Amino acid sequence: MIQNTVKSLLLIGVMVGSMHKVHTMDKIHFEKVTIAHEKCIFDWLEKPHVQEFWDNSQKHRDDIINFVNSRKEICEGLFDYWVGSIEGNSFCLVMTSEILSTSNVPDVWKTHLSKTGKTLSLDFMIGNENYLGKGLAAPTLEEFTLFIKDKIDKSVDTFFIDPNENNPRAKHVYAKAGFKVVTEFIRNGDRFSLMVKAPGPITIAAID
Ligand SMILES: CC(C)(COP(=O)(O)OP(=O)(O)OC[C@H]1O[C@@H](n2cnc3c(N)ncnc32)[C@H](O)[C@@H]1OP(=O)(O)O)[C@@H](O)C(=O)NCCC(=O)NCCS
Repeated sequence: MIQNTVKSLLLIGVMVGSMHKVHTMDKIHFEKVTIAHEKCIFDWLEKPHVQEFWDNSQKHRDDIINFVNSRKEICEGLFDYWVGSIEGNSFCLVMTSEILSTSNVPDVWKTHLSKTGKTLSLDFMIGNENYLGKGLAAPTLEEFTLFIKDKIDKSVDTFFIDPNENNPRAKHVYAKAGFKVVTEFIRNGDRFSLMVKAPGPITIAAID
């Protein structure tokens, strides 16, 4: 009797746990951000959980506007913007930027550039709160790296991502997606980790 009750409670626990997660068997679809996504992305930029860790500057907003208008205006925008959707609903934004030895990035980044292909840096957010905290972040990032390599540019083999040290949730999901902390660096007074996902062995610098 007691055994049956324990079994039932365990079963209910498993069912509740699986209801909480979104099953990634539902294919995640990525596409370049277009004017049709603009309002949705600007709504996401207003969300408190996004504002905590995301660039909230007008320059960033202008870059998105330039991007969806095919960068007709002269600007410094170096980013490509991608939107991810699942179950037909847009839920995440990824920004990509190719990092070159001439790029304006911390010197320590350059020691981790791919020697066999291109290196892309990523910025990632789940803006749609219906899909936040549902276990989607790591599988989405993994899918995104495959999407870039398979569908966009086969010569990309290394990805950088740089969470703020005050963002342990992001750091945790990036590690789950296969990124490794290789070093830390300071930008505008804040400390960040550089995390790398690459095909070969990854060199980890001493971190104080
Ligand atoms: C970072 C972000 C993408 C994560 O998405 P999410 O939907 O919250 O993540 P998931 O539900 O997939 O996974 C969260 C994981 O972090 C863990 N977690 C939550 N809070 C944590 C914390 N404070 N420290 C460590 N791990 C934490 C959860 O337990 C879960 O891990 P598990 O799957 O191993 O149990 C999302 O919170 C976001 O977009 N934030 C705003 C923008 C942002 O911070 N972007 C990153 C810029 S570098």
